[in-house]
Amino acid sequence: MTTTTDDRPLDALVVHATTEGHTARIAARLAERLAERGLRVRSSPVNEHGTLPGDDPEPLPPLVIAGSPVHVGRHDPGLVRWARGHAKDLGHRAVGLFSVSLSAAGRPDEVADAERLLAHLVGETGWTQARTTVVAGAISWSRYGFLKRFLMKRVLRKGGRTPHPDHDEVFTDWAALDAFADRLAGDLERLRAEPGVPGGRSGQGASA
Ligand SMILES: Cc1cc2nc3c(=O)[nH]c(=O)nc-3n(C[C@H](O)[C@H](O)[C@H](O)COP(=O)(O)O)c2cc1C
Repeated sequence: MTTTTDDRPLDALVVHATTEGHTARIAARLAERLAERGLRVRSSPVNEHGTLPGDDPEPLPPLVIAGSPVHVGRHDPGLVRWARGHAKDLGHRAVGLFSVSLSAAGRPDEVADAERLLAHLVGETGWTQARTTVVAGAISWSRYGFLKRFLMKRVLRKGGRTPHPDHDEVFTDWAALDAFADRLAGDLERLRAEPGVPGGRSGQGASA
């Protein structure tokens, strides 16, 4: 878990799950981009029970972002649990939800699959007001054991792609990810201009 260091109240929370580490990199980049824009950000992994290693910030900050990789057609159960548990707390907040997969780096029909999985994630979590995006992930060969290497090679060949198991392959469009962070920061700015918003200019005492 990382938090930008100063005493201001938290502006943003980025929660992620990861199996091979790439979604952690994506979450870190989102947090970094928001911090570059002057926001105080906490970035945290979620465990399989759907809890954060420290306490959940109470109340949640005015910008909340969650993301999960796709493994074998599903999102991380811990992330889904955490997000579902907080769906009721998202009123008057800027909200982002992202899904990381190889399909998002594929042909248009594969990207459509990634979008369908993201729509399913929105339904599962109840984060219906979230700004959403699919993010192209990575093939982290160096993190795979024998079975995952074997499976990944098979999946790639089946999809007409050539595996390159001698090096990790990253498909993430970092500029597009920065643009997603910028849009969420813009959502937060607009929200804070409204009266009665938590963390807003006139939001003292407002509840979620
Ligand atoms: C065992 C395994 C299963 C995967 N299943 C899918 C899948 O069903 N659909 C997909 O688009 N990508 C799939 N991927 C690709 C991952 O979503 C991608 O590698 C992502 O970057 C992993 O994120 P992480 O490093 O944060 O775990 C799979 C990867 C592995 C290793």
